[in-house]
Amino acid sequence: MVSAGHGSAFFLFASLLAFVGICSGGSDAPRGVAVGFVFDPKAKCDPPCEHGGVCIRNNTCFCSKGYEGETCQYANCYPKCKNGGECLRPGKCRCLPGFGGRYCHKVMCDGGCWNGGECIAVNGVAKCNCPSSWSGSKCQHAICPQGCRNGGICVAPGICSCPEGWLGGACHTAVCSRPCLNGGKCISPNKCRCRPPFSGPHCEERKKLH
Ligand SMILES: *[C@@H]1O[C@H](CO)[C@@H](O)[C@H](O)[C@H]1NC(C)=O
Repeated sequence: MVSAGHGSAFFLFASLLAFVGICSGGSDAPRGVAVGFVFDPKAKCDPPCEHGGVCIRNNTCFCSKGYEGETCQYANCYPKCKNGGECLRPGKCRCLPGFGGRYCHKVMCDGGCWNGGECIAVNGVAKCNCPSSWSGSKCQHAICPQGCRNGGICVAPGICSCPEGWLGGACHTAVCSRPCLNGGKCISPNKCRCRPPFSGPHCEERKKLH
């Protein structure tokens, strides 16, 4: 009779646990145990139940709120940790680099994104999504579709900064401080290519023909 009395008491206790688990968990509840299970006071769980879980049958743990798994080894986070974040303890996510916020739902680009770039996640990695006229990890490099030649540097979308002696949208036009004469062409800074029969630095000399 004494053992039967104990059995009833344990059954009541177990039912109460199940009841609490179902009521407090809602749809986010961890994997629960069916109502009306039998709590076995001699039950052995090996490996043991973790995080306050109760061993209710041989190798069956009843987990406390916030934990799940065979031995209640996993904390659960609701909403789930996003972007590869790990649930450290109930409701507490550890985020991968580049992510932040309570659920690792915020993407964070180190150093920010410049020139109108937007920080987004690409395959789990935070990246700047740059406007079409900018590139680079922070959208820091302007794009000059025409190219910047002869040592020119693209300083703003479509704008080249040219070294001395070069002009034009792509730094493609050489400058000769004195003009090339007689149909000669300025091919690099202060260098003329002359039309025959002319020669000289500025194509000012006529070669003698034999
Ligand atoms: C639980 O396991 C023990 C041995 O570890 C065994 O003696 C007992 O009968 C088992 N209980 C049930 C209900 O299977």
